[in-house]
Amino acid sequence: MDTLPAGPVRYDPLDAATLADPYPVLAELRTQSPAVWHDGMECWLITRYADCVRVLRDHTLFARDPRRLGRAVPDASLSVQVLDPPHQAPVRSLFMTALHQQDLPALQHHTRQNAASRLAALSGKPSWEAMRELAQPIALGAIADLLGVTPPPVQEWAQVSDTIMRSMDGGLDPDLIEPGRLARQQLSDLVASSFTTTGRPAGLLGHVRARTENAGPEHAAYAMHTARVMFQGGYSTLTAAIGNLLDTLARGPDVLTVLRERPGLVPLAVDELVRFDGPVQGTTRLAAADLTIGDVAVRRG
Ligand code: HEM
Repeated sequence: MDTLPAGPVRYDPLDAATLADPYPVLAELRTQSPAVWHDGMECWLITRYADCVRVLRDHTLFARDPRRLGRAVPDASLSVQVLDPPHQAPVRSLFMTALHQQDLPALQHHTRQNAASRLAALSGKPSWEAMRELAQPIALGAIADLLGVTPPPVQEWAQVSDTIMRSMDGGLDPDLIEPGRLARQQLSDLVASSFTTTGRPAGLLGHVRARTENAGPEHAAYAMHTARVMFQGGYSTLTAAIGNLLDTLARGPDVLTVLRERPGLVPLAVDELVRFDGPVQGTTRLAAADLTIGDVAVRRG
């Protein structure tokens, strides 16, 4: 029987089969070419490990800051995420220092207690919804604790966060853009109120706030927007990581048996489970010059 010639791989991150299991199509993309143009997303898809490492490490050729290519960045997006080294260093170190100033073992203990008491309450129920009743409240509690803010009501917050996450696919579905803008505004208001609230500053945000009080408005804006990224990015990745991890364990009960027999393996297993089915499927960079990836010519921008 004749085999059909291989055509270009069709990659739609939003189609049901890809959402259920993105790895077969990513594997096909890896074999097809080092860089595959995607019309809908208007970008090159880079999927091979060595190419990804190169793109992420070479800040000269691959930019995060669109202003390096003469493109504007809205004021509300000025966070650590749009900065490249060396401009990134002051904002990054402000947050890293704040992180290391926190009592991380105490935060960990608190999160563990929260998880244990939620599981104890759920164990009597015949069935329960893992994302809504476990992953979302644990992730929100952990990130609010770290930042030092009172957690907003979990269902309201989950809706805002989910709308923001979905709007990141606005290039593929324009209907997602406006709800995303509104949700981002809601989140900005929430973070701004934590920044301006009177009283003793707590947690990581308290540390950041204390160090930016006398800084110029530009520095303070970067700090506030980075806090927003941390709140939203920390919560959404943590929630999705817990969900993916539970899903993997449910599909591979043998792993669960091994972990029950050897609980010392759990910390290593968590790292591996997050790597095995990660909650983030991509990130972006802009080509800062005409360049090649493998044998593919990529134009500046
Ligand atoms: C399994 C969990 C997580 C994964 C897989 C993950 C993944 C990522 C990825 C892929 C990026 C973009 C990096 C780039 O393009 O260079 C990023 C950025 C970021 N993440 Fe996470 N993240 C996780 C958890 C968290 C948590 C818990 C926090 C906050 C407490 C957080 C805060 C941030 C911040 C502030 C940035 C922007 C900083 C920067 O780009 O340098 N992330 N993360």
